[in-house]
Amino acid sequence: MQALLEKLTQIPGPSGAEHLVRSAVQQEIEGFADAMYTDALGNLLARKGRRTDGGLRVMVAAHLDEIGVIVTHVDENGFVRFAPLGGVSPRYAPGGRVRFLNGVGGVIGLERTEDRTSAPPLEKMFIDVGAGKRSDCPVAVGDVAVFERPFEQLGGRWISKAMDDRVGVALLIEALKRLGDTPHEVYFVFSAQEEVGVRGATTAAFGVEPDLGLAVDVTMTGDTPKGVTMEVALGKGPAVKVKDRGMIADPRVVRWMTRTAERSGIPYQREILEYGSTDGRAIQLSRAGTPTGVLSIPCRYVHSPSEMVDAGDVKQALDLLLALLSAPIELGD
Ligand code: CO
Ligand code: ZN
Repeated sequence: MQALLEKLTQIPGPSGAEHLVRSAVQQEIEGFADAMYTDALGNLLARKGRRTDGGLRVMVAAHLDEIGVIVTHVDENGFVRFAPLGGVSPRYAPGGRVRFLNGVGGVIGLERTEDRTSAPPLEKMFIDVGAGKRSDCPVAVGDVAVFERPFEQLGGRWISKAMDDRVGVALLIEALKRLGDTPHEVYFVFSAQEEVGVRGATTAAFGVEPDLGLAVDVTMTGDTPKGVTMEVALGKGPAVKVKDRGMIADPRVVRWMTRTAERSGIPYQREILEYGSTDGRAIQLSRAGTPTGVLSIPCRYVHSPSEMVDAGDVKQALDLLLALLSAPIELGD
């Protein structure tokens, strides 16, 4: 898992330019799915299993894309102005390195401001790609970049850029490879453009028309000094989402997930996240609505270039995902 996660997190894949990550996933799962295809938005869909009596069509989604930046303007001196792709925090940006998809690197600089205590907005920042003038600038309007930061193991923890949501992508890959007999027809969806508003999952869910939806994504934690007030902590097991800003998880799905964890002896945490949402929202609101839940990986420093997860949580999330997909599903009422 660590090697796969290290490989996946280091590939650049800002929203709308997921192709490099997508082909890496394609290579990983080649031969393990019954069918595999890419749709118009750039989602990769892999189907496994045949729906039997009592089986469901299940859509499991993790997003390929990561937050990044897009060039909006290059000035006379070759400095690049940019806009965010997804939730880029100005507080994490200055001094950070970016890498464009064409290989060009850059550092994020700041205009001089009177107020040195708070982070200025992204409009007051620029990317210095080492060009002396506009005509020498190796990037153009519309080029995209991601934050660059290496993968590192720190004790039982892993840090990297793009842990959101390559950890989910890695979990889907492993689940697809290890899933044996299942009464379900499972669509593993590696979705595009989640960070700009769950766009890939929206069209994928419409196309798949699942009976049940499950997103796999990171969630924040409340376990750092004076951090957000939140129950979820690193190292206490995967989280079962109850609610976030964009969805109220189907209570029947929440019960199915927590019961399965209890029966399988897998620790879990109940999650209420007051910020953000996931592909689960898009699946839940697809067509006439789909019973949907979210399996969350606790993650510190979400949307910073150094997102941290716990190796034990990731392993237990895989155990839970496999337990959920292997047995008949009784949602009850
Ligand atoms: Co995100
Ligand atoms: Zn995410």
